Amino acid sequence: MRICFLLASVGVAVAETGIDAWLRYAPLTGSSVVHSALPNNVVVLNSSQGSPVYTAGQELHNGIKSIFDKSTRVCYSKETKSALVVGTVAEYEKVYGALQNVPELAPDGFWLDTTGFNIQIVGQDERGALYGAFEYLSMLAQGNFTKVAYATNPAGNIRWVNQWDNMDGSIERGYGGASIFFANGTVVSDLTRAAQYARLLASVRINAVVINNVNANSTTLSAENIQGVSRIADVMRPYGVQVGLSLDFASPTEGVQNPVVHNLTTYDPLDESVVQWWTNITDNIYSIIPDFAGYLVKADSEGQAGPLVYNRTLAQGANLFAKTLEPYGGTLMYRAFVYNLLNESNWTEDRAKAAVDFFQPLDGQFMDNTVIQIKYGPIDFQVREPTSPLFASLRETNAAIELEVAQEYLGQQCHLVYLPPLWKTVLDFDLQVDNESSVVRNIISGQRFNRPLGGSAAVVNTMLTNNVRLGSNLAMSNLYAYGRLAWDATQEPEPVLQDWIRLTFGLHPRILSTITQMSMESWPAYLNYSGNLGIQTLTDILYTHFGPNPASQELNGYGQWTRADSLSVGMDRTCSNGTCYSGQYPPKVYEMYESIETTPDDLILWFHHVNWTHVLHSGKTVIQHFYDSHYSGAATAQTFVTQLASLSGLIDSERYNEMMYRQLYQAGHSIVWRDSVNDYYYNMTLIPDDHGRVGHHPWRIEAEAMALDGYRISGVALNETASNKSAIVTVSNSTTGIATHIIDFPSGRYDIGVNYFDLYGGVSNFSAYVNNRKLGSWQGNAEFTLGHELTYFLDGNSNTRHHFFDVDVKEGDELKIVGVPDQMEAAPVDYVVFLPVGSGIVD
Ligand SMILES: *[C@@H]1O[C@H](CO)[C@@H](O)[C@H](O)[C@H]1NC(C)=O
Ligand SMILES: *[C@@H]1O[C@H](CO)[C@@H](O)[C@H](O)[C@H]1NC(C)=O
Ligand SMILES: *[C@@H]1O[C@H](CO)[C@@H](O)[C@H](O)[C@H]1NC(C)=O
Ligand SMILES: *[C@@H]1O[C@H](CO)[C@@H](O)[C@H](O)[C@H]1NC(C)=O
Ligand SMILES: *[C@@H]1O[C@H](CO)[C@@H](O)[C@H](O)[C@H]1NC(C)=O
Ligand SMILES: *[C@@H]1O[C@H](CO)[C@@H](O)[C@H](O)[C@H]1NC(C)=O
Ligand SMILES: *[C@@H]1O[C@H](CO)[C@@H](O)[C@H](O)[C@H]1NC(C)=O
Ligand SMILES: *[C@@H]1O[C@H](CO)[C@@H](O)[C@H](O)[C@H]1NC(C)=O
Ligand SMILES: *[C@@H]1O[C@H](CO)[C@@H](O)[C@H](O)[C@H]1NC(C)=O
Ligand SMILES: *[C@@H]1O[C@H](CO)[C@@H](O)[C@H](O)[C@H]1NC(C)=O
Ligand SMILES: *[C@@H]1O[C@H](CO)[C@@H](O)[C@H](O)[C@H]1NC(C)=O
Ligand SMILES: *[C@@H]1O[C@H](CO)[C@@H](O)[C@H](O)[C@H]1NC(C)=O
Repeated sequence: MRICFLLASVGVAVAETGIDAWLRYAPLTGSSVVHSALPNNVVVLNSSQGSPVYTAGQELHNGIKSIFDKSTRVCYSKETKSALVVGTVAEYEKVYGALQNVPELAPDGFWLDTTGFNIQIVGQDERGALYGAFEYLSMLAQGNFTKVAYATNPAGNIRWVNQWDNMDGSIERGYGGASIFFANGTVVSDLTRAAQYARLLASVRINAVVINNVNANSTTLSAENIQGVSRIADVMRPYGVQVGLSLDFASPTEGVQNPVVHNLTTYDPLDESVVQWWTNITDNIYSIIPDFAGYLVKADSEGQAGPLVYNRTLAQGANLFAKTLEPYGGTLMYRAFVYNLLNESNWTEDRAKAAVDFFQPLDGQFMDNTVIQIKYGPIDFQVREPTSPLFASLRETNAAIELEVAQEYLGQQCHLVYLPPLWKTVLDFDLQVDNESSVVRNIISGQRFNRPLGGSAAVVNTMLTNNVRLGSNLAMSNLYAYGRLAWDATQEPEPVLQDWIRLTFGLHPRILSTITQMSMESWPAYLNYSGNLGIQTLTDILYTHFGPNPASQELNGYGQWTRADSLSVGMDRTCSNGTCYSGQYPPKVYEMYESIETTPDDLILWFHHVNWTHVLHSGKTVIQHFYDSHYSGAATAQTFVTQLASLSGLIDSERYNEMMYRQLYQAGHSIVWRDSVNDYYYNMTLIPDDHGRVGHHPWRIEAEAMALDGYRISGVALNETASNKSAIVTVSNSTTGIATHIIDFPSGRYDIGVNYFDLYGGVSNFSAYVNNRKLGSWQGNAEFTLGHELTYFLDGNSNTRHHFFDVDVKEGDELKIVGVPDQMEAAPVDYVVFLPVGSGIVD
């Protein structure tokens, strides 16, 4: 019996909102030869709707239709004409006979052969077959018609993403949109976005999503919510994506509304009633969601309950859940992010040591279905950290790396930061355990210590925005690359990026070279203007994690200290005189970091406390390195605007405008970063910049130096975040402010920047004039447009630059800024800068 269908065609997407991300299947021009060479039939070796192989058939049909405007027939049984055949090895061999020359496939692995009569896309399992279909479509969409025959297998079986979504629909460290899963305490009814997310994830071979915040809420376990979670699992299952949940350790005492459990007075993991409680919950979940992935647990961390409350070990806490999951093949991900608040006045206290201190003694005590989820560095997703030594310390325990696609400390999707070059500093790091090669990627794959489970988890926090899923089109490269590296971490960041560029923006060579250059320069640039030499990201660590606030690292118990004073800076983590964090590494790595001579410059302040005048391997002093790198990082960020502008007309205007809006923002904010950090350390050390830039801004007109009407001079929350330490605000929230000044720069053409403060609590209106010629108006509305964390203060989070390009200015012209306040936002202005066009000056 032959069952073939000519499916209704799907329209080619015209509007480029970014919603399709890298799965646009954009029409390829000039591909008619290939079009006729492609088979007319797609043979799908599973006709059950909702199976991943069925999904693969739909994707192949729709993709080929969209890319080539070619309709294929979809068949669910053997076809004698040449066909594109997709299915599992077992089904393929049943229908077509034994496969020739196919290497052994691991779970989720696949074989892709485009050389023969039939194109074979054969998975070890259904998920593998779907991955193979996406791989083939990715080649076609990139115009890659090479004949290939190869097998590929995952480096780790854990390829998960984490969503920090709260039950009320907010997302912790989510930048600009609501949850696609939850609202008002329950699971949303419309799961369209959840299904689209699963499709994106499957296309980069992610196999599970933990849908709720690690700071979990026990109400997730109510009978109603478990039903809701099962609806999420239903829409993700066709893509082979499983669903998991974060747990609140104290749930048994929190009156969970689920008839399978009753409220207890304890959550002691060794208490029999607690064991029964979690067994009931887990049994209940699997009876409703048979392919449930498992649990993620953040315990005894940052206020979360955990086994330590009952003097039980973390392993006893973990095994409580692992035992209940074991009969179902479920996995427990247990986070290593456990630390106590510390006392900075004690020179040898060190938060970086916490993970090894807590977990190394428990090695071998965790069950085999448990994976310790370890942040890449020992502190918290900083712009550069050394590799977590915990990867070297667990030989009889499964380990996975925790990465963060959400740019929590890395610009919150308002700064372009392509993250894989950062991730690779850890994935490719050789810990040399027992003096043998022990590269992190081979530890988390399970290979180095011969572990059954391992892999990667990334905090993504995709959200419900109108267009793109991370709030920024360019930030999507990080999600794409995360999936690619979770599958095979030996891949290099640049070619992976280039696949993403072609899939997202098409094949134009200028787009490819430009977005490659911007992206590859982006992490080094951000590193340079946020926090270099291993000092950590100098953001406000207490609240926003966004703008500059070096002082916030100090005088609190969080242990992200820099120990900066007027003479010296850096954490002494040596064993000879410091915290002996270096001693947590295997001998060869320990020796490298213990000695200041062999510590690389880029981690010097992580491991050593040195004078500001200490001379680096580079030949520069620490302080001059700071000044120079903050200048060069910000200068690079300015070029992203001109680089992107060179693509005007080559990218649809909707996405181009969104990207340009963010690059302009970053260009301005990188200067806020540069000046805040440099001014802060200059004021602290009083060591001048060799190049005379720090504290000297010859092309600026300070707002407080202007003639003010309706405006008054104001201090700011952090002196270093305003040029010359002060700003202007309107005298009341119903008074329009006018600030004027006679321009005494030479006549010429200028790019003009107006630095203002954009806060929560109001949308001020600003206008700028030269001799009553209006340059333009803008609004202080970042709370609705950018998505980064805001504050109510004049500080490094809110200081923002508005740009006017190529303005004709005459010496003696009058500059005028008019600010109309709104509610709590008093139209604050910091300064106006005049940059001679073409001069390369970045003041
Ligand atoms: C085409 O795709 C194959 C398989 O992914 C890859 O090995 C090859 O490098 C690609 N060719 C080009 C020109 O990108
Ligand atoms: C949440 O509740 C509010 C108020 O009852 C309602 O307006 C809103 O539509 C609800 N949101 C969803 C997604 O159900
Ligand atoms: C947990 O969720 C419930 C229901 O949405 C909410 O009322 C409660 O405030 C949440 N608890 C925490 C600690 O967020
Ligand atoms: C577990 O479920 C059983 C019935 O299935 C019930 O009798 C028992 O009370 C439950 N245990 C807890 C601790 O909720
Ligand atoms: C559950 O028990 C705890 C004590 O362990 C109590 O504080 C809480 O109010 C109870 N909740 C309900 C809904 O009964
Ligand atoms: C845990 O141990 C400490 C010190 O040994 C003791 O003071 C405390 O009461 C114990 N807590 C519990 C819940 O057993
Ligand atoms: C300082 O911290 C170290 C390491 O935590 C600890 O062993 C030592 O007792 C502390 N010293 C004082 C004076 O508290
Ligand atoms: C050694 O540690 C002390 C604090 O205990 C510190 O003051 C001193 O600067 C350190 N010495 C060196 C050479 O780093
Ligand atoms: C650091 O500076 C102090 C004060 O100027 C000086 O006494 C000390 O010798 C310097 N240390 C090094 C290692 O140069
Ligand atoms: C910096 O700010 C603080 C607190 O706002 C203020 O007390 C201090 O005088 C300022 N210092 C300078 C040098 O402006
Ligand atoms: C400059 O340093 C002094 C003392 O070291 C401090 O009081 C002041 O707040 C600092 N000013 C700025 C702008 O950081
Ligand atoms: C001024 O601010 C207050 C307090 O935020 C607010 O109640 C009032 O409506 C504001 N007035 C105007 C004109 O925005």
